[in-house]
Amino acid sequence: MLTSTVLSLIASASFSSCTAIARRQSNTTSSSIESCPGYTASNVVQSGSSFTADLNLAGPACNTYGTDIQNLTLSVDYQTAQRLHVQIYDQAEQVYQVPDSVLPRPNSSNVDANSSELSFTYTANPFSFAVTRKSSGDVLFNTSGSALVFESQYLRLRTQLPDSPHLYGLGEHTDPFQLNTTNYTRTLWSRDAYTIPTGTNLYGNHPVYFDHRGASGTHGVFLLNSNGMDIKINNTAQTGQYLEYNTLGGIVDLYFMAGPSPTQVSQQYAQVVGLPVMMPYWGFGFHQCRYGMQDVWEVSEVVSNYSAANIPLETMWTDIDYMDYRKVFTLDPDRFPLNLMQELVSTIHSRQQHYIVMVDPAVAYYNYTAFNNGASANAFLKFSNGSIYEGVVWPGPTAFPDWFAPGTQDYWNGEFASFFDATNGVDIDALWIDMNEASNFCHYPCSDPQGYANSNGDPPQPPPVRASPPYPAPGFPANFQPNGTISKRQASGDMLGLPGRDFINPPYQISDAAGSISNLTLNTDLIHANGLAEYDTHNLYGTMMSVVSRNAMLNRRPADRPLVITRSTFAGAGAHVGHWLGDNPATWDGYRISIAEQLEFAALFQVPMVGSDVCGYTAYDTSDQLCARWSMLGAFSPFYRDHQDNEHLAHEFYRSYLPMTNNASRVAINTRYLLLDYIYTALYQQTQDGTPLLNPMFFIYPNDTNTFPLQLQFFFGNALLIAPVTDDNSTSVTYYLPDDIYYDWWTREPVRGNGSYVTEGYVGFDGIPIFYRGGTIIPQRISSANTTAELRKQDFEIVVAPGLDGSASGTLYLDEGNSIDQPQTSNIEFSYEGGVFKMTGSFGYDPGVSIAKITLLGSGGGNSTSTNTSLTTQNKEESKGISLTAEYTTKLA
Ligand SMILES: *[C@@H]1O[C@H](CO)[C@@H](O)[C@H](O)[C@H]1NC(C)=O
Ligand SMILES: *[C@@H]1O[C@H](CO)[C@@H](O)[C@H](O)[C@H]1NC(C)=O
Ligand SMILES: *[C@@H]1O[C@H](CO)[C@@H](O)[C@H](O)[C@H]1NC(C)=O
Ligand SMILES: *[C@@H]1O[C@H](CO)[C@@H](O)[C@H](O)[C@H]1NC(C)=O
Ligand SMILES: *[C@@H]1O[C@H](CO)[C@@H](O)[C@H](O)[C@H]1NC(C)=O
Ligand SMILES: *[C@@H]1O[C@H](CO)[C@@H](O)[C@H](O)[C@H]1NC(C)=O
Ligand SMILES: *[C@@H]1O[C@H](CO)[C@@H](O)[C@H](O)[C@H]1NC(C)=O
Ligand SMILES: *[C@@H]1O[C@H](CO)[C@@H](O)[C@H](O)[C@H]1NC(C)=O
Ligand SMILES: *[C@@H]1O[C@H](CO)[C@@H](O)[C@H](O)[C@H]1NC(C)=O
Repeated sequence: MLTSTVLSLIASASFSSCTAIARRQSNTTSSSIESCPGYTASNVVQSGSSFTADLNLAGPACNTYGTDIQNLTLSVDYQTAQRLHVQIYDQAEQVYQVPDSVLPRPNSSNVDANSSELSFTYTANPFSFAVTRKSSGDVLFNTSGSALVFESQYLRLRTQLPDSPHLYGLGEHTDPFQLNTTNYTRTLWSRDAYTIPTGTNLYGNHPVYFDHRGASGTHGVFLLNSNGMDIKINNTAQTGQYLEYNTLGGIVDLYFMAGPSPTQVSQQYAQVVGLPVMMPYWGFGFHQCRYGMQDVWEVSEVVSNYSAANIPLETMWTDIDYMDYRKVFTLDPDRFPLNLMQELVSTIHSRQQHYIVMVDPAVAYYNYTAFNNGASANAFLKFSNGSIYEGVVWPGPTAFPDWFAPGTQDYWNGEFASFFDATNGVDIDALWIDMNEASNFCHYPCSDPQGYANSNGDPPQPPPVRASPPYPAPGFPANFQPNGTISKRQASGDMLGLPGRDFINPPYQISDAAGSISNLTLNTDLIHANGLAEYDTHNLYGTMMSVVSRNAMLNRRPADRPLVITRSTFAGAGAHVGHWLGDNPATWDGYRISIAEQLEFAALFQVPMVGSDVCGYTAYDTSDQLCARWSMLGAFSPFYRDHQDNEHLAHEFYRSYLPMTNNASRVAINTRYLLLDYIYTALYQQTQDGTPLLNPMFFIYPNDTNTFPLQLQFFFGNALLIAPVTDDNSTSVTYYLPDDIYYDWWTREPVRGNGSYVTEGYVGFDGIPIFYRGGTIIPQRISSANTTAELRKQDFEIVVAPGLDGSASGTLYLDEGNSIDQPQTSNIEFSYEGGVFKMTGSFGYDPGVSIAKITLLGSGGGNSTSTNTSLTTQNKEESKGISLTAEYTTKLA
């Protein structure tokens, strides 16, 4: 969340030209990158499952962007039959590597090279390597033709690719879902990217791509490297098609995942970066937030207005408005006084709803408890002289937690325990963390944070309170001065990373849209308490805050699954938290790109709890058409929240200037709620084996080339095809139906797809095309409810959508919904074959409701064309319902 006076600054940063000028070091012995000698492999040692070699610089150093490292080690590890790990690192092991504490490495099963689906081959001089899919001989990765460059501040590795490859991933970005393959640069460097412009580096970093080759298979390539980088994809007459990593440091640390299906690549990637974490059932309810809430009364008004409009609201959120002069862990005593906040929260709880607030990492550099505690815990980032590093964020001058410092977790736990105490504080149910790229409003070098804050009017003034006492005069308190008595940091002995690097202006410059790598964020020459440089670890800041904050939530409510939504992420973040897509514009482009982005996070990056700011965060007032459509689309995001800034027309779904949205959102939320257990089951599945909760079309139809570029339609779970209207002023939509049988969600009529585009002539503003995919069985609630707690009291309807072969299957996962420990769970498997419906599996959890009906779509016999012989067992079972605690078989057709 960002707005007000800093907007123009950040926006201009976002759109500033991204000059990718690689500045040559002023070193007379340095020469162009083309003259780099590469390496020679020797001393090869091979065992069944691994392979090592020495790599020695093959000629005079080029020292183009730092100093060439003379001696490297190549290490190849066949970790599983489908996963190959290739590392190239300095023999001295001084070069920075992503700490295991931040991204725990997967165990290797040490499979024999002969039983791997992939093979690694190399050429000794000049050294290059290739990875091949054994079954087809298809070369997946091949570095020949371009020397490996491994320097103190630069790494280059290029792979040849077939022409016009189908590549996906390398986020976070708002570019086309299927990546451009010519003249394309993807920069990874966390940035507060207001309005999420295309072609720029955004909040998070996921250096993994999926290379989809249709019927010959899909593979994934993950570069485990947190340094700033440009990944270039290009195709020139001289070079042919290639993908090239250009990083500011770190090592070559590649995981190759063989698939061969897209879903298997996702599953294999989850094994590398961690399976996503389970969320509470209620987290899938509808959430509402808005920046610019005047006071606690306005928050309560929104809650009651939703009820009055009969639109189900699960969770109310509050942005930084609640804070006293934007200081984290404080309450504005006039507008959000503690007694009223407690009353607000207890009232929300008594209505079976939930409450969430935002916490930022930046702590006001000010004499108050949260700052003083952090200072005495040595929890803040410091300059080398021991003084606390200062930037400027919402409250003015701020300190920033050093997530690597040993005292930071306890410090953060303590602030959460007291400020969010159930009895004496604000008893939040979940957490929202923002600004953790980290964002800093002050331009590098930010030598006068207080002066910057004063002259830029930060923070924006809160609105006046509506009742006396009048709010204090605007501006900072007279005593708003840095605390100058901070004790010096103990020097740390175990520094990781090469000495002597230029951390501020590295010789190779990535295309950071903010300009230099320290601009509008933390200084990259800051050294963390454990000796790591911010230069190397910048891209980890948001994920580290996520983990520490999640732990702090667990510390205060140890039994409950934390729902934490973060802005900045690194690979593996989904194992801890969810992500919202940041400060998006309230435009049709913003609406459309949210689909590709949520597919990236859920299907490719293993961060399934993802969603955009529904109706748009900023840039314009939303419109009724856009908001109505977005309320529908948002219902098919894993994370569903309406949120916006303080400068545009408020767009809660009930607003009277949004009459179509009023209706659309009611339909949208109620439709979502019918499907909530299906969604919950899909997330559960992803937490178990990485099977994505959202699916791009090519994940389900990998052999159908028409699906490869599709980014406006998708599968929600693996059974429901969603094809939203995506244009302004339109009530029609054209979507692609692969060769398969579908059933319209609304009419339940069969629809035979034949691998062509279909135009649906009229889609009302409270409609969205949804299809059951043939071959699936979907558990639904029989009716919706105002809260998820009430929803859980509704019976089920099981919908059987037979495939072309007349069979179908599906699953239902049931548990209590909120606790981390779930001693009682049900994993129910539904099948339909030869006219017989079966329910098997485990039945440990009794949901207290039953199956009210089983509905068979189509003729039920396969090869359905147009007949709709919907058949239910409702009559047969109506007196008692079908128990969800035991196996069951019935003949349906
Ligand atoms: C930092 O960003 C501001 C705002 O975009 C820009 O004017 C300035 O040139 C940038 N400074 C550096 C060092 O990149
Ligand atoms: C210039 O290159 C030499 C020779 O490799 C190297 O020793 C030296 O560190 C380089 N200077 C700088 C400033 O990087
Ligand atoms: C690199 O390895 C060679 C051969 O083993 C050795 O002679 C040389 O000293 C090493 N260089 C460095 C910088 O370690
Ligand atoms: C792609 O290649 C063209 C032609 O050589 C070149 O002009 C362009 O800069 C390259 N783009 C990138 C992103 O490397
Ligand atoms: C490559 O892209 C850059 C910036 O995106 C553009 O300025 C340039 O003209 C493009 N070059 C080619 C060869 O398309
Ligand atoms: C990607 O390619 C499309 C069309 O091919 C173009 O419109 C778009 O500007 C390109 N995006 C980037 C970020 O290069
Ligand atoms: C895609 O084609 C491959 C190779 O012919 C085949 O093995 C695979 O089953 C097909 N996949 C689907 C989903 O049809
Ligand atoms: C810091 O705040 C405390 C409590 O309000 C106060 O007692 C103390 O004098 C303050 N210190 C300074 C230097 O303002
Ligand atoms: C500064 O903070 C330290 C540590 O909390 C505290 O002991 C000291 O009194 C403060 N000094 C001032 C001038 O506020």
